[in-house]
Amino acid sequence: MRTIKQIDIRSFITTSTLPALYSHAYDATQILYDPELKAYFIGCYADVNDVLRSPSFTTTPLGQRAQPVMGERVLAQMDGFEHHSKRKGVLSGLTGHLFREKYSTMITEITESILKRFLPAGEIDLISEFGKEYGVKVTLRVLGLPTERHEEVATWHHGIANFITSLDLTDTERKFSLDCSKRLIQYLTPLIEHKIQHPDESLISAIYGSTPPEQKMTTAELVALVLNILLAATEPADKTLAYLFKHLLEQPELFQRVVNDRSLLTSAINETLRMSSPVQLIPRQAEQGATLPGMKFSSGDLVFCMVGAANRDPSAYHAASEFRIDRRVESHSKHEKISPHLAFGAGPHVCVGAAFSMMQIKLTANLILDHMKDLRLAPDCSFHEDGFYTRGFSTLRLQFSPSTLTLTPSKHPTDAYA
Ligand code: HEM
Repeated sequence: MRTIKQIDIRSFITTSTLPALYSHAYDATQILYDPELKAYFIGCYADVNDVLRSPSFTTTPLGQRAQPVMGERVLAQMDGFEHHSKRKGVLSGLTGHLFREKYSTMITEITESILKRFLPAGEIDLISEFGKEYGVKVTLRVLGLPTERHEEVATWHHGIANFITSLDLTDTERKFSLDCSKRLIQYLTPLIEHKIQHPDESLISAIYGSTPPEQKMTTAELVALVLNILLAATEPADKTLAYLFKHLLEQPELFQRVVNDRSLLTSAINETLRMSSPVQLIPRQAEQGATLPGMKFSSGDLVFCMVGAANRDPSAYHAASEFRIDRRVESHSKHEKISPHLAFGAGPHVCVGAAFSMMQIKLTANLILDHMKDLRLAPDCSFHEDGFYTRGFSTLRLQFSPSTLTLTPSKHPTDAYA
């Protein structure tokens, strides 16, 4: 039997106290319970992996969090045939042997057009000056939507994301989020109606075209799915990119190895996602008969999977709190099994954008390394992190040798896809 340890989760989410929370969370003798939030928090790797894969824990809480601001049901709250067929539609546009070729020129163009403005100064804030604009523009273009109003879309996006990921919203914040949702839906609806009438090569058209005529989505359902993708795709990409550069630049020898051998970027990105998971919490609801070893839940219990803790569980990873890009190689040489990180989730709702994200982050990291020579953390660089449901730096200042940019494709396109 496990003990239930009562805990005030929100008192732990500063940068310095989060590791202490992780160590409570992956202690397999106990389960954390926050009486204020009326929610269990689990952080053992084995438990999180089991819950995400088990049909006894459903995505009901995601629906409750998302539907008021999405207008309709979203992928995350569907199951069975409906989930399978809509997911297949999204995956059809984000995987397959041509998807890299399809999106790499666009990602290169967006990355270089932003970097170009900062290269002569030799300094950039990877969050406020690069990441925010980059994240929204790439996702809009993947969907096939215009980018001219990216700043407004980013504000509305932020308001909606706050509604879904907040553990406690004030009335004013709630009102602001609902207003952002109304405005974004009003903006997207005519654009999406146009895609329905005039299909093209975009992800929106791929999704709409992939459903059989008898199950055609209404415009509102398609708008909700587009919002689901816009929200899910935008934030984690730029957060991961910032964590990647922070981890690498803190170890100059390792950084130089990666600069010289770009094929190491895949391991570096995976290790970043493990160590610094941008999505820290995944909520589930326990249904009749839901259990974990030594723990029986009641139907309706709210359970948060602490992905960030599970990814640092010492029973799943040797030297779990160290950033080591050679983990896979080391485990192969010792014939050990390495646990796959859970930053993209696991089970039926595992991230549909995982392959796309890996390609996107690798390509963008390559371009940053190509264009910013002598890259380093700025001496006054702050590592303040925000958020608990999703988590990332609020700022990350980098310095490099000033230069100018002639707009040419990356010199490492094939490495980027290795
Ligand atoms: C580093 C980047 C990303 C991370 C860390 C990430 C993380 C996650 C996680 C943890 C889940 C699982 C949620 C659950 O089990 O309830 C998820 C689901 C999802 N992600 Fe991602 N994501 C990333 C990028 C993307 C991108 C680029 C897209 C789309 C272009 C995307 C679209 C989605 C969608 C639609 C779902 C819901 C899937 C379902 O319910 O079947 N994500 N993501």
